[in-house]
Amino acid sequence: MTPQTIAGAGEYWDHYYGSEFVFGLGTEHILDALQRVPPTGTWADLGAGSESLLWSIALDAHRLIAIDRDEQRLRILRAYALSREPRGAYWTVLALCGRGRADFTECCARVSGTLAADCLTEAALPLRPGSADLVTQFGLLGLTTSPGHFTRAWHVCHEPLTPGGWAAGANWTATRREGRVRLSRPLYQAAFTRSGMTPLLIEQVPVSGDPDFDSVWIYLGRKQ
Ligand SMILES: C[S@@+](CC[C@H](N)C(=O)[O-])C[C@H]1O[C@@H](n2cnc3c(N)ncnc32)[C@H](O)[C@@H]1O
Repeated sequence: MTPQTIAGAGEYWDHYYGSEFVFGLGTEHILDALQRVPPTGTWADLGAGSESLLWSIALDAHRLIAIDRDEQRLRILRAYALSREPRGAYWTVLALCGRGRADFTECCARVSGTLAADCLTEAALPLRPGSADLVTQFGLLGLTTSPGHFTRAWHVCHEPLTPGGWAAGANWTATRREGRVRLSRPLYQAAFTRSGMTPLLIEQVPVSGDPDFDSVWIYLGRKQ
């Protein structure tokens, strides 16, 4: 069985990014990496949960499709997009990215669809191959159970990517690792290679201030 996400939908929504921005959890490093991605058309965020709009602030993506297996998290995301009102840590993220409230409103308007699907099986995602210019995941692939599971799920997740398209994301290493894949540079390199992708960044950043996680692996790459 796949390891569980660290918190249920409501608790996650309240705990992470709901109040003050917490430096040291790796978020600021991920935002830096995302700002290297050029403007894109269709962006698919996998394991999106309720937080795609946080990452959207650092990106310039025309249309967001958020996919998660948990309907409740997607409902929270849709309601948030309709509210157009940045909350808690989102204000800091706007400032860190040199953006303002009007930019957030635009990000909200760009949420074009939410889809409920399991992204960690061998089954194809509900997106056509070549239909996405950018595929991201934050905290999804780190829930895989073994190197084989990680590379297979990576492959399925990046099948929708168009040639030349971008991939970006991050996975935290849990302090209680039971059942979770052990993340490493060779693992990421193998996953990139198997999916015909070129890594542009694979970086492990130490995390402080969260007893559940001790580092985060951040990556950027492109499909050949
Ligand atoms: C650590 S949370 C990250 C949420 C969000 N991406 C973020 O940056 O805060 C992991 C997310 O993956 C989703 N998830 C877990 N297993 C999944 C699966 N098999 N298929 C699709 N989504 C999954 C969870 O519902 C949750 O939203």
